[in-house]
Amino acid sequence: MDLDQLVQTLERLALDAEAALAAAHDAAALEAARVQFAGARSGQLKTLQKEVGTLPADSKRAGYVKFNEVKDRIQAALDAAAARVESGADAAIPAGLDPTLPGVRRRLGHVHPITQTIEHLKQIMARLGFEVVEGPEVEDTWHNFVALNIPEDHPARDPLDNFFLACAGKLADDKGAAARTPAIDPTAPDARLMRSQTSTVQIRVMEKSAPPVRIISLGRVYRPDPPDQTHFPMFHQMEGLWIDRSVTMAQLKSVLRMFATNYLGADVSIRFRPSFFPFTEPSVEADFSWKGKWIEFGGAGMVDPNVLRAVGYDPEEVTGFAFGLGVERLCMGRHRIEDIRDLFRNDVRFLEQF
Ligand code: DAH
Repeated sequence: MDLDQLVQTLERLALDAEAALAAAHDAAALEAARVQFAGARSGQLKTLQKEVGTLPADSKRAGYVKFNEVKDRIQAALDAAAARVESGADAAIPAGLDPTLPGVRRRLGHVHPITQTIEHLKQIMARLGFEVVEGPEVEDTWHNFVALNIPEDHPARDPLDNFFLACAGKLADDKGAAARTPAIDPTAPDARLMRSQTSTVQIRVMEKSAPPVRIISLGRVYRPDPPDQTHFPMFHQMEGLWIDRSVTMAQLKSVLRMFATNYLGADVSIRFRPSFFPFTEPSVEADFSWKGKWIEFGGAGMVDPNVLRAVGYDPEEVTGFAFGLGVERLCMGRHRIEDIRDLFRNDVRFLEQF
């Protein structure tokens, strides 16, 4: 072998040894590679060392320079492999898995932020003595409007502002084309709609039980608003109702203030603006100021005597207050969510932050 051939052979040996040692994942493989390349008696490095000794005198020095370089590289590869095997870093890696690829995190399911908010609100109101009740999402016009003192010509009853449903009875009666596009008559006594407010539950509770009443009801409501940053055709409300012998406006304000400080913290201020709702007199709109921002959170007021009469209560005997708060607004205010649509897009990258 002349010098050129020997230098090439030594280089190939270094590359082979480095590859074999990088692939050695346990002590046995490491030892086999060590014996093959750097074994003191018959290792390939030893064999080539003898070859260098047979070179003509004028090229011996260059041969040893390359030999020493290759010997150092193999030693470095051996040391690195030994350290890796000893640390156990490779032990848990199954065959065929490339641990250098980018990782994928397993996603765990968890409770939706709106559901979390609902649970939180229920806890706060339970501490204030309010019992949770449920009501149906499909309602009749009595509970959604009439008993709540909303007259037939009130804009809130406009069919374009509500999700009226085709009545099942009419569907069965109609034949042919009419059955496919059934007429919806919002003034018919059997008209049904997706409730537009949880105030319906006030009526259902008072119809069934005698005063005193102290309840909240949380659930979905529906309005045909085109979705934008602050509107969605389905959202949630928390309705509250307290009826007793002499419930006052001062109590309404204290309850809402206590609710606000429990939900947002002691650093919240609350303001009441005069307003109008058919089912309360007087009526207010309530806002929270928290961390430099006003959050409009809903309406409230003293239950109108007409509502009490509609459910068979005597307004001379009992008084009460009611409130209706937007759950999404409360959730968005607390968590600084800018767009209501984010809550319903079901993008896990958004949802997993809560
Ligand atoms: N139902 C009203 C709405 O959806 C909110 C509301 C206002 C509820 C005043 C109440 C109340 O109980 O007293 O806009």
